[in-house]
Amino acid sequence: MKTVLKIFGGVVLLVVALAGGGIGWLALRKPAQRPPSTERIEVTQARLDRGEYLVRHVADCLNCHSDHLTSFGVPIKPGTEGMGGFVFDKKLGFPGVVAAQNLTPDPATGIGNWTDGEVLRAFREGVDRQGNALFPMMPYQHLRVMSDEDAKSVVVYLRTLKPIHNQVPLKHIDFPVNLFVKFAPQPLTGPVSAPDPHDSVKYGEYLSRISGCYECHTPHDDQNQLIADKAFSGGWRMEGPWGLNYTANITPHPDTYVGRATKAEFISRFRSFQGLDASNSPEAPKGQNTIMPWLTFSGMTDQDLGAIYDFLRTQKPIENKVNPFPNKG
Ligand code: HEC
Ligand code: HEC
Repeated sequence: MKTVLKIFGGVVLLVVALAGGGIGWLALRKPAQRPPSTERIEVTQARLDRGEYLVRHVADCLNCHSDHLTSFGVPIKPGTEGMGGFVFDKKLGFPGVVAAQNLTPDPATGIGNWTDGEVLRAFREGVDRQGNALFPMMPYQHLRVMSDEDAKSVVVYLRTLKPIHNQVPLKHIDFPVNLFVKFAPQPLTGPVSAPDPHDSVKYGEYLSRISGCYECHTPHDDQNQLIADKAFSGGWRMEGPWGLNYTANITPHPDTYVGRATKAEFISRFRSFQGLDASNSPEAPKGQNTIMPWLTFSGMTDQDLGAIYDFLRTQKPIENKVNPFPNKG
């Protein structure tokens, strides 16, 4: 009996010591990373145009990294483009404080002093200038599929934003989430290219990753991890200044909009929001405002929206009834 107790006690002590050492080791450990590239990205008109299109209408960087109005579609408040966004804190159930930072070229509070390589590495590989992990609410785990050429275009365009001096609240993440976050960043290991835009289904898949359709429309488990075998079946709860939404099921199940709509209908539904912005977006009826970036995506080309449709139609149809507006008046 005594021996058993001794062994048991010894094992417990060992476990405690290991856990203590493990936490200490993790606390000091930097996330997986590689040095930023030293390349200076050449500015061309093609990159400027492409970067503007991606930042404003596809990858939606400015939506998270700016201030908003609360009218329909939560449009970006004019004059705040890139200055830093919404703050997630304890009131919203976040374990700490995190805000989408200032991406304008302001040297003190924005990314004016960052090298091109540091910016590129941050949004595809998930570490900041000092090599510390970014919280994966910043969608680098999806943006890592963005091609090198598209990513360079994004950087070129970000450099043209009006510099705004604005310090976002300092980040603080509670234990133990602060340690788990270190496992999220993954360095890229080689060149990244985009699929051929003529391969509509493959290109639609690419767009659905970099524009967040996959992330928002896939249900998440208790640890906030995507449930991959339920891809695009909706039901993720999203609460914020727009109210409360559950994301829609966009698999091609006969009960869903995507299951019923033709390609032309799908494209024109997105298009119908074109021209809507901070200046003219109406108040939404009670409980019917939405975080779905309709305003952003209304500027996508027909070809790109069509590719997303073609891709979604190849997905597994999943039955999952969702009420996107539970507080509808
Ligand atoms: C869903 C919201 C969201 C979207 C979309 C988004 N970001 Fe972020 N971004 C964040 C948040 C939140 C952080 C802060 C993470 C942290 O501090 O750990 C962040 C951090 C960053 C950082 C690090 C800045 C710093 O000072 O450390 C860069 C660079 C960045 N984002 C660039 C981009 C680019 C480029 C895009 C579009 C291709 C983009 N982001 C899209 C939410 C977003
Ligand atoms: C930030 C989260 C978010 C992102 C990113 C997002 N969606 Fe949504 N989407 C929603 C929410 C929430 C709803 C439900 C509210 C509504 O219909 O506006 C929705 C609704 C929809 C609907 C309407 C479905 C119906 O049943 O009527 C379609 C279609 C859709 N999204 C497609 C897309 C596509 C395609 C993309 C990527 C290009 C995308 N969404 C990206 C949150 C998002």
